[in-house]
Amino acid sequence: MDGTSIVAELLTGEGRADPYPLYARAHELGPAAPAGPGTVLAVGYAAADRVLRDPAFAPEDVEGSALRDLAVARHSSVTLLGRSILQRSAADHARVRSLIASSFNARRVAALRPAVGAAVGRLLDDMAELGADGSPVDFMDAFAFRLPVEVICELLGVPARDRRPFRGLAGSLTAALELVQDLDELTAADEAADELSGYFTALVAERLARPRDDLVSDLARTAVDAPGRISGAELLANLVLLLVAGFETTTNLLGNGLALLLHHPQAMDGLRTGALDPALFTDEVLRHDSPVQLTTRIATAHGLRVAGVPAPAGSLVLVLLAAANRDPARYDRPEVFDPGRTDSLPLSFGGGPHFCLGSRLARLEAELAVPALLDRFPRLAPGGVSTRRDRLVLRGYETLPVTVR
Ligand code: HEM
Repeated sequence: MDGTSIVAELLTGEGRADPYPLYARAHELGPAAPAGPGTVLAVGYAAADRVLRDPAFAPEDVEGSALRDLAVARHSSVTLLGRSILQRSAADHARVRSLIASSFNARRVAALRPAVGAAVGRLLDDMAELGADGSPVDFMDAFAFRLPVEVICELLGVPARDRRPFRGLAGSLTAALELVQDLDELTAADEAADELSGYFTALVAERLARPRDDLVSDLARTAVDAPGRISGAELLANLVLLLVAGFETTTNLLGNGLALLLHHPQAMDGLRTGALDPALFTDEVLRHDSPVQLTTRIATAHGLRVAGVPAPAGSLVLVLLAAANRDPARYDRPEVFDPGRTDSLPLSFGGGPHFCLGSRLARLEAELAVPALLDRFPRLAPGGVSTRRDRLVLRGYETLPVTVR
């Protein structure tokens, strides 16, 4: 099987449902492989890491020229996310990223700990009530989708009464981040982008009039006082990015983590007794079943190579993060879920200039939620058949029923 057929298979329903056998085949081709004209796969851990760290490989740029599909570029969801730091590069990226990073700092994340703990407690109460009669509770619906949206809204300063529609909107908008877009999904993503932009426009105006200690107030004030640091359009794009990036990814970390726990009673016991560090468990979930499976880069200079494979200027590099996390050259028995690993350092949060800004927050949520869940429900068990979301890039569950009595 060559690189081209591996990519074609990854894009089928079967490939999306279980991409791991295809990643194993990709490793047989070496750390990188051509995948048709103008496309290169970065599969090995070191190769993927190097691409992410090399600024000559830049994100696809909607506002510049480096977008594969110009019809896709006209969609408002794509242009909105394209103005966010996720898809900007060089000086524009550094300018806005440093600003967001200074507001979204360790102090603010640490200050969220009590709010995360309280949200975990509330959601576990809801789960206990829903499952009190022994009927299955869908962990995704009752917990994994709710916690991250509560937390990110707390950070941004979105009032509790406004949060309800965000799950659906964020879920629709993430279609714009898939490798190949379905046109119907893209239309729903555009509607979500327009609604979220409208919402944040109004919230920015409100916070400028009555500032609070939250991220929207901080960033909105800077956009007015120092528009050279962040424009109004960049402000909106990045507020929407923070909402989406902080939400479905963390939802998937929680869901993928619980699904693994239900099949690994030893890990469950270890977390309950304190023998297993929740941080190591989280690392291994991230490595073994990464919530973000891949990202893309464009070669922006001549003569570039990925682990020896030529990547001519303009070519697309598929950085297979989840495959790199199972590189046999980097990990002993990579397909085995082993939370005892201490050298994990998965690439699930990316690397280099675009390294995930929310990794600390996502880890905090998982490290508080999982032990609290096990503590609260000593008899937690599978409650029926789980279903996956039909996505390649953002990998997670749609439903994950459990019984809690
Ligand atoms: C388990 C949860 C998460 C995972 C697996 C994850 C994964 C990633 C990855 C792979 C990237 C880099 C994409 C690339 O290089 O193309 C990224 C970037 C980013 N993430 Fe996360 N993320 C998670 C949670 C969060 C949270 C909670 C937030 C915010 C509250 C967040 C905000 C961001 C932002 C703003 C960027 C863009 C950084 C930049 O381009 O400079 N993420 N994330």
